[in-house]
Amino acid sequence: MRETCVPVYLSTFSLYTFPMFNYKTQPIENFEFVEIAPASELPNGERLFVEVGDKPIVIFNIAGQFFAIGDVCSHDDGPLGDGDVEGHHVVCPRHGAEFDVRTGKAMSMPAVVDIPAYPVQVKDGNIFVGIPKG
Ligand code: FES
Repeated sequence: MRETCVPVYLSTFSLYTFPMFNYKTQPIENFEFVEIAPASELPNGERLFVEVGDKPIVIFNIAGQFFAIGDVCSHDDGPLGDGDVEGHHVVCPRHGAEFDVRTGKAMSMPAVVDIPAYPVQVKDGNIFVGIPKG
């Protein structure tokens, strides 16, 4: 799958591109959906840590909706999923960067790079997370 990049101007003289990882914007046929667990095992306000292939993922149930993001902070590669949840933001427990669990977008310093946000489906009462093919 081709990543989309966004240009970011960090100073007057430099231009960097950071990859965008909101996979939910990609066509659904680009994903393999992996069964995770019964939805009943992830009640409102809870989170579930899983590893799919080599990807650490945390799945949140926020007000009855499921959101899956990478469980690695883009600031310093710390685990993110144990952080406090404020609305749809998770706060990294190490240095306080916030990420939107709906999009993976880095919302505050010290993180400036987004994290993966994976599509989630519930079928027959089971949670599936979409992992990009290839
Ligand atoms: S490792 Fe998450 S803010 Fe530093």
